[in-house]
Amino acid sequence: MLIVRNATFPDGRTGQDVLTEAGRITAIGPNLTAPAACEAVDAQGQLLSPPFVDAHFHMDATLSVGLPRMNESGTLLEGIAVWGELKPQLTQDALIERALQYCDWAVAKGLLGIRSHVDVCDDRLLAVDALLHVKQRVAPYLDLQLVAFPQDGLLRSPSALANLKRALDRGVDAIGGIPHFERTMAEGAESVRILCELAAERGLRVDMHCDESDDPLSRHIETLAFHTQRLGLHGRVTGSHLTSMHSMDNYYVSKLLPLMREAQVHAIANPLINITLQGRHDTYPKRRGMTRVPELMAAGITVAFGHDCVMDPWYSLGSADMLEVAQMGLHVAQMTSQVQMRACFDAVTVNAARILGLQGYGIEVGAHADFVLLQARDPVEAIRLRAARLMVVRRGKVVARTPAATAALSLPGRPASVDWALRR
Ligand code: FE2
Repeated sequence: MLIVRNATFPDGRTGQDVLTEAGRITAIGPNLTAPAACEAVDAQGQLLSPPFVDAHFHMDATLSVGLPRMNESGTLLEGIAVWGELKPQLTQDALIERALQYCDWAVAKGLLGIRSHVDVCDDRLLAVDALLHVKQRVAPYLDLQLVAFPQDGLLRSPSALANLKRALDRGVDAIGGIPHFERTMAEGAESVRILCELAAERGLRVDMHCDESDDPLSRHIETLAFHTQRLGLHGRVTGSHLTSMHSMDNYYVSKLLPLMREAQVHAIANPLINITLQGRHDTYPKRRGMTRVPELMAAGITVAFGHDCVMDPWYSLGSADMLEVAQMGLHVAQMTSQVQMRACFDAVTVNAARILGLQGYGIEVGAHADFVLLQARDPVEAIRLRAARLMVVRRGKVVARTPAATAALSLPGRPASVDWALRR
């Protein structure tokens, strides 16, 4: 049993106690009475949030940076070349080891739910088997959801569809796609139809890399919304990246947003990757390339931010810190109003959990006793400071602790330590 006393919640409630028992939250409120045997933690008014959730990641490539060589230019094309060189050398043991190490990082950062795409275009399905093993291994402390991702194109790669079905048969959770990478716009649309029908047949969720380009005429999100509506897949389908929406004609977007809303298609932006990989053909002005996050949110569409890559051939940075992701998303989308900044926190917590369909998520009675205590008093401060995860709790047990960030000062006439929180 564990009780956290005097916490602040993301919705602004202060002075709250959270009592947990047998892995569930059993009571919430001020000054709760707890049994004597109950371990008590004083939150000292800091922010207690549901855990971070990353709605878009590639765990089969993570932490492989430098293998077999560095992406010296840092471009998408050299990244693809490096990944192609590494693929024949991959072993299941190495994939598992890197994924487990990443999950350790994730837990330390309070990231307890990850949706990872897994490349199914390797006939051996090496990465699929490795990540299915990892999913089982980490289940006590992290929800890992897998998406069968035909990286080389469902129709463009000869064995992709058969491999994707084999991956689903082995237990992969959801169906991925990459329509903008098929040979033609028509083939892309056809891949969306095939994949959505497969999802309807098997009762699965869909999450496609969709329109991940700067092409203002890429229209696969429209097709995805159409088939979602036609097949009754409402709420189960997600368009990831959607970067072409950044460059689309405004009039067309005004038609597209209600269609997405009607089909309850979710959207995932990946700010760190979109800002670095998109707009590379531009001179100046250079487009940002991230999808229209505030407009999607205003249209009533659930939007999450994903990390996409950490230390892999495409992106040699990252640390499983979803507050870094939220901070980048906030800046790129210019979401600086008070409401919008809080929405960026939701994009790496509740919105992502909704997209994954996580059950028992949230700080409420009856939910899983999963939460993270942050060295911040509210979501905006958490993003600003990329706040330390003082304590991470999974099913009522502390699984990670990080000391508070502080610095000792030696300045004449100044305090002995520095406090980054501006108390008003
Ligand atoms: Fe991705």
